[in-house]
Order: sequence, then structure tokens, then C-alpha cells
Amino acid sequence: MAGRGGKAGRPRVAGDTVALWWLEVERVAAADWPRLEALLDDGERERVRRFHFERDRLSYVAAHALGRGLLSAWAGGEPSAWRFAAGPHDKPEVLSPATAPRLRINLSHTRGLAAAAVTEDHDVGIDVEWLDRQPASGDLARRYFAPIECAQLEAVPAALANEAFLSFWTLKESYIKAIGKGLAQPLDSFAFTLDPLAIHFEPGVIDDPACWLFRRFRPTSRHLMALALRHPRPHGVTVTASAVDADRLCRQPETPGPGRISRR
Ligand SMILES: CC(C)(COP(=O)(O)OP(=O)(O)OC[C@H]1O[C@@H](n2cnc3c(N)ncnc32)[C@H](O)[C@@H]1OP(=O)(O)O)[C@@H](O)C(=O)NCCC(=O)NCCS
Repeated sequence: MAGRGGKAGRPRVAGDTVALWWLEVERVAAADWPRLEALLDDGERERVRRFHFERDRLSYVAAHALGRGLLSAWAGGEPSAWRFAAGPHDKPEVLSPATAPRLRINLSHTRGLAAAAVTEDHDVGIDVEWLDRQPASGDLARRYFAPIECAQLEAVPAALANEAFLSFWTLKESYIKAIGKGLAQPLDSFAFTLDPLAIHFEPGVIDDPACWLFRRFRPTSRHLMALALRHPRPHGVTVTASAVDADRLCRQPETPGPGRISRR
């Protein structure tokens, strides 16, 4: 599993690169929340006002500020200026000019952590889960997971069962989020092995394991994270993964973007 990652600099700009940032909610100072909220657009700020629980509101603000900050670090421009459109199953897609490389993004948030992944052109999905969210349950696995995943889980010692369960869970979520179908994709129509890390498809699923890159991360001691990328040459892809803080997000790009992408 990949480690905690390095300091967040400017993401490399290339079609064969994925930049992944995460933000720990508890590390954001109270005074920084208004600065993060200022990175959102009017619709997101309206959504922020409707959350019932503060923890949900904060993780939403963190994720959406993170996604916008990462897009601006990648391509330049103001974080609040990015616009999105919903795909067929509501996957948010960046509205880029037709001539620019097509930017792709995916967000995930859970108790205490938000994450965002950005690339160009290719389907990308990310999922984060809080390790204490629920005890691993054989019933839940049998309900959601494919038989080969259940068999792998049954072989795991009880003390490691929760983490193994959530490893499969984050990988499965990262895949359904990358393809954008959410739960419209039956969760037992594909299966993961953890060692080696690979996806397998049931007969009838039109997809190819050779076109997928998956990565697992442990961004904090209490969270798991998985990344999925559909790519014609997955072995040639560079993944940069970094923790960021509110200062990094609120700081404007040092130069007006790398010049490859204009949103105006
Ligand atoms: C989007 C979805 C696929 C994942 O949701 P989730 O794990 O609850 O939430 P995450 O924080 O990881 O992702 C939410 C973000 O994904 C993005 N998203 C929304 N629809 C999406 C879709 N169809 N595809 C990809 N991303 C999507 C949005 O940016 C959303 O953020 P927002 O709610 O703040 O606007 C959800 O619709 C879903 O179906 N959840 C199923 C949960 C489940 O039972 N999983 C079993 C796994 S084994």
C-alpha cells in the first residue's frame, strides 16, 4: 500500500499523470473554514447551509475546496470559477473549453477526511473511508461483494477483518465512481484481488482489467483511500499523492497556471 505522500507542490501537468490531494478536517483551524468556503461557488455554498450535522458540512466544504484548489493548481485560474456538469449518473464533470485537454475530477469525503483526484481525459475515481465507520460484517460482504472477495475476507485473521473489508469497499467504490455509474453497476459484477492488486470482471461485463490502474493508500491512521484510473497504458501512469493544508488550498497559483489550459 502506498504511504502518506509528499508535500503538495504544483501537480505535474500531463495526460499520463494523476494528482491526488487529501485534507484532514481536524487539521483545519476554525479561522480557515471561511477561507475554504470562499473557494466554493454559490450552489455549493447553498448546499453547505442545508447540512444538518457539522461534521457533514465540514467534510463537504473540505472536499469541494480541495477539488477546486487542485484543479487550479493543475490548470491555473480561480478555484471558485470552475463549473461542473452532471454526467448520466450524476458524476460531476469539469466544463472545459472544447479545445483544452479535458480535465477529469473525482471527490470523496468521509468522517474527518476529504480527497480529490484530477487527471486529463481518462476516467478517474476515488474513495475514502473512515476505519471506525462500522465493524466488518460477513453479512454485509455477502450482500455486496463477489464470491472471490468473500473468500479472501474469510481467510483474514479477525483482528484485520475490518481493514480488509474496507480495502475491498474503497476499491469497489473507486471503480464504480471512475466509470460514473454508481450503484447502477452491480457490485458483484466485478471483483478485486488484493495481492496482486487486480480487478476481475464477470462474464458479460464489457470491460478489460488491462485498462485499469488501482492504488491503495493509508492517508491517516484512521482512513483508507483507493484510486481507480482507466487508461490505455496503466503501467506508464504517474500518481502523485499529497496531504495539503488550508493554506496551500487558499494560496493562489504562484504563476498564472502552466499555460496549457485556458478557461476564459
Ligand atoms: C457517488 C457514490 C457512487 C459514492 O458515494 P459515497 O461513497 O457515499 O460518497 P463519496 O464521498 O465517496 O463521493 C461523493 C462524491 O462523488 C461524486 N459523485 C456523485 N455521483 C457520482 C457518480 N455517479 N460517479 C462518480 N462520482 C460521483 C460527487 O462529487 C460526490 O460529492 P458530493 O456528494 O459532495 O457532491 C454514491 O452514489 C453511491 O452509490 N454510494 C453507494 C454506497 C454503497 O453502498 N457502496 C457499497 C460499496 S461496496
